Amino acid sequence: MMKRKIFSSIFVGLALGALPFLQLSCDDGRIFDENVHVEREGGTVKLRGRISGIDSWPGGYSIVLAGFEGDNAYAQTAVGIAPEADGTVEMVLSGIPSGVSDIEICAINKLRKRIASFYRIDYSEQADTVYLEAGDIDAGMYRAIQTYIFDRSCVTCHGGSTEAAAGLYLTDDKSYSSLVGVVADRSDEDLFLVEPGNSAESFLRIVLHEDVVRYNHTNIITSGNELDLIDDWIDHGALQ
Ligand code: HEC
Repeated sequence: MMKRKIFSSIFVGLALGALPFLQLSCDDGRIFDENVHVEREGGTVKLRGRISGIDSWPGGYSIVLAGFEGDNAYAQTAVGIAPEADGTVEMVLSGIPSGVSDIEICAINKLRKRIASFYRIDYSEQADTVYLEAGDIDAGMYRAIQTYIFDRSCVTCHGGSTEAAAGLYLTDDKSYSSLVGVVADRSDEDLFLVEPGNSAESFLRIVLHEDVVRYNHTNIITSGNELDLIDDWIDHGALQ
């Protein structure tokens, strides 16, 4: 089930995602530079909100207002989000292609693949101009890790309902202070669970890549993007 999902998303990505990306990159090369966009026919979304956490992402990721088609994880259209100093965002995404079924505030990688989504509206019934009042949004890298990785794949054993395996809490309220700069209980070499700037020697990373604790963790996360997200977060300073 898990495997099939991954294969199909790679396939869909190649079939549907790569192609528009290549086409777009010819005339739309500056799309992430600022809030500039090329007028095309199609719908328009006007976004207002306060968005924090964008600075916590390293190069290679962009926080964008983007349109997606169905299950395709590759953005069909996207504009980089650049808030004012106080976090305020007021921007426009126009020329939205007709096949777009949802509009998101999300993090994408260099291939325009969705890595994490922070806000989403159904766009399939929408026409013309949509006004989006998004309110306050935390689009930080750690928020993405908590929501997409810890909440989904870890908290069942690490503090969500029963007591935490190995005493490690990965719940929203406790995960950061349980990980960063904390010596791992199960590490023979007393490695930190997370050593900011050093993913290679962070026990959190090692546990997910190598069979080193009594309960093998190497098959819990099978998405390369999610494993990369953890590595990139640690290497970029493990910001909260
Ligand atoms: C099915 C239950 C289960 C799930 C799900 C699970 N773990 Fe664990 N985890 C354990 C157990 C049990 C241990 C202790 C292993 C041992 O005693 O050697 C452990 C230990 C760890 C340790 C070592 C802690 C230390 O202080 O040395 C880390 C790090 C860890 N898990 C991270 C994760 C992450 C990240 C996830 C989600 C991606 C996750 N675990 C999901 C059961 C689980």
